[in-house]
Amino acid sequence: IIDFMNIAIVGTGYVGLVSGTCFAEMGVHVTCVDVNEEKINALREGNVPIYEPGLDEMVLRNHGEGRLDFTTDLISVLDEVDIVFCAVGTPPDEDGAADLQYVLAVARQFGQNIHKYTVLVTKSTVPVGTAKRVKATVEEELKKRGVEIPFDVASNPEFLKEGAAIKDFMSPDRVVVGVESEKAKEMMSKLYRPFLLNNFRVIFTDIPSAEMIKYAANSMLATRISFMNDIANLCELVGADVNMVRKGIGSDSRIGAKFLYPGCGYGGSCFPKDVKALIKTAEKKGYPMKVLKAVEEVNENQKSVLFNKLGTYYKDDLKGKIIALWGLSFKPETDDMREATSLVIIKLLLNAGCTVKVYDPVAMTECKRRIGDIVTYATDMYDAVLDADALLMLTEWKQFRLPSWRVIVKSMKHPLVIDGRNIYDAAEMKEMGVEYRCIGKLRI
Ligand code: UDX
Repeated sequence: IIDFMNIAIVGTGYVGLVSGTCFAEMGVHVTCVDVNEEKINALREGNVPIYEPGLDEMVLRNHGEGRLDFTTDLISVLDEVDIVFCAVGTPPDEDGAADLQYVLAVARQFGQNIHKYTVLVTKSTVPVGTAKRVKATVEEELKKRGVEIPFDVASNPEFLKEGAAIKDFMSPDRVVVGVESEKAKEMMSKLYRPFLLNNFRVIFTDIPSAEMIKYAANSMLATRISFMNDIANLCELVGADVNMVRKGIGSDSRIGAKFLYPGCGYGGSCFPKDVKALIKTAEKKGYPMKVLKAVEEVNENQKSVLFNKLGTYYKDDLKGKIIALWGLSFKPETDDMREATSLVIIKLLLNAGCTVKVYDPVAMTECKRRIGDIVTYATDMYDAVLDADALLMLTEWKQFRLPSWRVIVKSMKHPLVIDGRNIYDAAEMKEMGVEYRCIGKLRI
């Protein structure tokens, strides 16, 4: 009889650390494993390497109460755990396919060192068919050892959103678990049982379907965004207002109101990578994913829409202009700049000869780390607009929603505001003397 569940999570990135901490919060004993010693030492001291609201406090508390440990050594905990989660990175390789070397390395280590029945669960986003390879890798290692130890593989994709990760993990819309044995199903049911009190469903599927669900879900969401961006651009050409169109179509319950916001392109660690990987998987099978290819292309173009609007306004004479950017992270409540639109815009602006002044509530350090001092880092959002010829709003942080336009208009050289997330009111902006441009709507 297992008194309490004991699990290991390999990979203390976004998914691993949030999952581990949330399981610990529910009474599971969790050991988070990572090859990065610096990271592990920092975590032991309560220093969380990523910005995620609420995570610091939860890590500290669960660590203090003895349910959450950190180590660089998976082997040392293998004998004690019932389940090993693999949440290591699957970065795209040169041709866009998911690079599985880290996932398979975990499988190898697992096979080389288990002594009793253990379930190896893949949480990393991996292409369909990976569980099979994971299983084969473990079997190969067991064979090399000349031992027969029972084990199972399972697939448990993660759907959490950055910035809302803890809430998403603690009360998700659904949990998907792909299994191929009753025993693994039982163990996974037990692990997730405390969360059932929060009234959500665990959907058990076969393993390939669980692997597919993650890609299909993210691709569908990315498709909605690119579709709306296309509609927004067309709205401008025909004189319609995409905000009205969005409300009009979103109220059809088959469509739904969520995730229909046009903007300056999606970014982040998931959508761009997963869309690419699914296209690649299909290609390998000789099937062209035409819709997804278009989704990608539309998104690439959308990242330069704000720059194009600026160019049109200044008749392509941008040399020497001072441009302020609000928002650097790919979305609010995170310092993550992976595939962020800001990176594309900064490049375009610098190439056009502009001086770029940026401000972000949390992503400034990350931006400096990535691109250094090729832009000026403002001390606050108002400092950023000082003497600027235009302000480009890229990430809808709460603090950008109701700024003092009086101060801004006074500070700017020319009060042109280009809103990449449609958060301002056009009529109000006009009243305040701002030249306002947004996505999918003619100016008034
Ligand atoms: C996403 C999925 O939502 C999550 O389920 C999955 O596990 C990982 O990928 P995340 O990358 O954290 O999560 O961000 P999300 O909030 O989904 O936003 C992604 C991007 O889409 C952002 O750049 C955002 O600005 C953009 N977006 C989102 C839009 O442009 N319009 C919308 O209506 C919604």
